Amino acid sequence: MITKLLSADAESLKIAAEILKKGGLVAFPTETVYGLGANALNGSAVEKIFQAKGRPQDNPLIVHVCNREMFETVAHINNFAHVLISRLMPSSLTLVLKKKQIVPDVVTAKLDTVAVRMPNNTHAIELIKCAGLPIAAPSANSSTRPSPTTAAAVLADMEGKIPLILDGGKCEVGIESTVLDLTTDTPTILRQGIVTKSELESVLGVKVLTAGETAGTVKSPGMKYRHYAPNCAVLLNTDGCVETVNGEFLRQKEAGKRVCIMCCDEQMRNHSNKETLSLGVNATQAAERLYGNLLLAERNYDCLIVVWTDKTEIGMSVLNRLSKACGGNLI
Ligand code: TXA
Ligand code: MG
Repeated sequence: MITKLLSADAESLKIAAEILKKGGLVAFPTETVYGLGANALNGSAVEKIFQAKGRPQDNPLIVHVCNREMFETVAHINNFAHVLISRLMPSSLTLVLKKKQIVPDVVTAKLDTVAVRMPNNTHAIELIKCAGLPIAAPSANSSTRPSPTTAAAVLADMEGKIPLILDGGKCEVGIESTVLDLTTDTPTILRQGIVTKSELESVLGVKVLTAGETAGTVKSPGMKYRHYAPNCAVLLNTDGCVETVNGEFLRQKEAGKRVCIMCCDEQMRNHSNKETLSLGVNATQAAERLYGNLLLAERNYDCLIVVWTDKTEIGMSVLNRLSKACGGNLI
């Protein structure tokens, strides 16, 4: 299959909408990461997403909608959802709610709930409007790989597997949406993102939990799989110990490895005269650069040492991705 890469203008959005209506796949920009979309109401179209990504069938997808009316066609909106849709959407927030019958099992991995979000990106919203359909879309990467934040990254991963990629430039958020479960008494964050727990608490006026704080089964099936891993070793340091990090750098170098340190600008001076990749000045910027840097690192290095000490809420969302990308290799 030939993969076309088109700038996300009015004409290419129409072409994309036609492909979606006919049951095909389109990669498209959102503010978080690029998505790989199919008509959420067409089970066999959605199957193609799992094939293209090599995604496990038991990992459900997020349904993307363009307005409240479309939201209500796929999910039962409860009081919390009502408040969040009115006050926080569109945004990088996904709500897990009781699903409506119209949503095929393949989208929700047979759960009786569905994850829904309204992306804060004009191209994405226009595409959904133009197709007139809710769009099921995971991140547009092969399973286990870093999520793509540029059309070029989607092309590198998905070339030959999908007919069309819409190029809407670089994603401004850079990490995936916050997933909030609203099907229990207490709203629970299943995946951290740029929309934080304190923001949700202040809008909802109740305490919000983060999964992991509660014992029990994994509620977000996707969280149990390997994720975000580039094709190079990733070692993670979270205490910022300069000796540990520089010692490891030298050990790797002596073993003949091409090695690089990734950290925020504030820590750069601790690692002078070494190859580095910058995560910028704060957690928000780190989120924006994270996946692009991981993909850059795998092209140029055998080993990436990451220093991440930021414990702010968004900092913890970045840490969550880094913990998975390193596959448990902590230093
Ligand atoms: O920012 C994003 O959310 C991006 C863009 C493309 O919108 N999408 C994305 O999708 O990250 P994906 O498939 O990579 O991650 C979806 C997450 C997974 O962790 C999945 O398990 C969880 O949402 N999820 C989906 N449906 C669920 C449900 N019914 N209950 C619990 N978790 C669900
Ligand atoms: Mg993903």
